[in-house]
Amino acid sequence: MTPDTFKLLFSRDQIEQRTRELAALISNDYHGRHLVIVGVLKGCFVFMADVIRNLDLDVTVDFVQIASYGAGRESSGECTLVKDLGIDIRGRDVLVVEDIVDTGETLACLIDELQQRSPASVRVCALLDKQCCRRAEVKVDYFGFAVEDVFVVGCGLDYDERYRALPGIYALPPE
Ligand code: IMP
Repeated sequence: MTPDTFKLLFSRDQIEQRTRELAALISNDYHGRHLVIVGVLKGCFVFMADVIRNLDLDVTVDFVQIASYGAGRESSGECTLVKDLGIDIRGRDVLVVEDIVDTGETLACLIDELQQRSPASVRVCALLDKQCCRRAEVKVDYFGFAVEDVFVVGCGLDYDERYRALPGIYALPPE
């Protein structure tokens, strides 16, 4: 159920179409290579499932979870790896899959951590990019849609652990 006050930004059809485009780009860029896809829990799970099923590549999938956001809408600014990878990424091509890059602090922290493990490469694919809100310098190699400074839910993204199952992406009303 979607509350009346939520504003639809991207429909399920738009997301699926854009995901297919991203997967085609990624398949082309990594053609003939084996890719390690690292999903950032929890928000990545819907988008990541969409992306990997559209890839024309041999992939290995794993997850990390990073504690950086508390309840509500504000970033805590801190970052701790609460669930680590179960595989060794030394010498591997890694693609980090995120739901949204906002301040970029979570991603910067994760990339730092991954780089210490000597992968062959690390790139980033995010469903949404809040370019307006960056505090850390990070490169988002592939992104689905740019969004303004609004809080969004759906397609894996939550507000206090709710609304992840909404098929589209919605903006919450301002606080
Ligand atoms: P960053 O470290 O500020 O880039 O935040 C990244 C994480 O914050 C994302 O992976 C999301 O889990 C969460 N986040 C940031 N903006 C939003 C939003 O608009 N809706 C839901 N979660 C968000």
